[in-house]
Amino acid sequence: MSRPIRILAVAGARPNFMKIAALLRELRARERFEVFLVHTGQHYDSAMSESFFAELGIAAPDANLGVGSGSHAEMTAEVLRRVEPLLAAQQPDALLVVGDVNSTIAAALAAVKLGIPVAHVEAGLRSFDRRMPEEINRVLTDAISEWLFVTEPSGEENLRREGVDARRIHLVGNVMIDTLLHHLEEARKRDTLSRLGLVRGRYAVLTLHRPSNVDDPARLRGLFEVLEALHEEIPVVFPVHPRTQAAIERGLEGRRPGLRLTEPLGYLDFLRLMADARLVLTDSGGIQEETTVLGVPCLTLRENTERPVTVSQGTNRIVGTDPATILAEARKILSGDAEPAGIPERWDGRAAARIADVLERDLGGRA
Ligand code: UD1
Repeated sequence: MSRPIRILAVAGARPNFMKIAALLRELRARERFEVFLVHTGQHYDSAMSESFFAELGIAAPDANLGVGSGSHAEMTAEVLRRVEPLLAAQQPDALLVVGDVNSTIAAALAAVKLGIPVAHVEAGLRSFDRRMPEEINRVLTDAISEWLFVTEPSGEENLRREGVDARRIHLVGNVMIDTLLHHLEEARKRDTLSRLGLVRGRYAVLTLHRPSNVDDPARLRGLFEVLEALHEEIPVVFPVHPRTQAAIERGLEGRRPGLRLTEPLGYLDFLRLMADARLVLTDSGGIQEETTVLGVPCLTLRENTERPVTVSQGTNRIVGTDPATILAEARKILSGDAEPAGIPERWDGRAAARIADVLERDLGGRA
């Protein structure tokens, strides 16, 4: 019997955990694979990290690099420095990375220099806005990855345009949606709404953390003005990301926004909250996809999206950050103007299985 295929998987920040969860479940269920999980420690608060491991049923990481916060260069450099000896010691057949955070590019770069091939899950997404740190991380990670696992057709097109060999591109669906579908029933049983004093279908959910929205005090004040106006019409629940908490303290000079503020929520509570919302307003990437699958209208408070299928097929509208436009679009939804939406191809809960099939086919002979 040949030896197992050894995969070293890396996760670092909140949006990575729901993606890696689906992959770990699939790979660890297959005898052919042996997986070593590394947490970089980019996100470290219990509410941003540990609670996700518990709720998503991810076993504790085999190693934690403990990099913590810092500037982009510091974070990236620390992951690079600390992951290299681990990769050298483990000698995996492949490195598995997800998404577009600093941990993703750093781990990929360390691996490829050691001759370890990289599998990038959620490859090919492009906002075409190079001021976004995540866009740089996406472009660079894709450029050095051997397997490019793509969630939507735009990803395939982008990679082909960048000259990537079609044999390396695999449209497999969306591992984050695998996790959503796996946990939806459980989430629907949570008492989240009664705990927060909300009524099904009669509240909006807001998330905000992009540097472009929260780091500039004037823009942040403008956004809160319009969101507070909306809150007069429908309760707006706002779980506050740590970056945003810090920005609010600076930008609003101690004033608390007049919205229903909560701590960052765990995965299941947040899923329940989204599933029963009348409307979601966000600048997150993943939430645009999750609302599409849940059939909940989503207004994206950004000028662009790297996930265009959520607009062409899903419930997402890109509304920018102009206060009057946001309010007008939100009111349209409240008055019942929502287009029927569909679910993108292969967002069916089987993306991780497709990825495992490809890795098993390509690495089975080497191991
Ligand atoms: C990162 C990702 C972004 C992702 C987001 C989700 C990059 C470039 N960006 O951005 O793509 O959408 O995570 O959350 O990797 N902090 C805590 N506790 C934590 C983690 C962070 O207090 O557990 C604080 C940090 O001290 C820092 C701030 O939150 O001040 C921002 O965290 P950071 O990881 O730098 O980036 P995000 O803005 O969260």
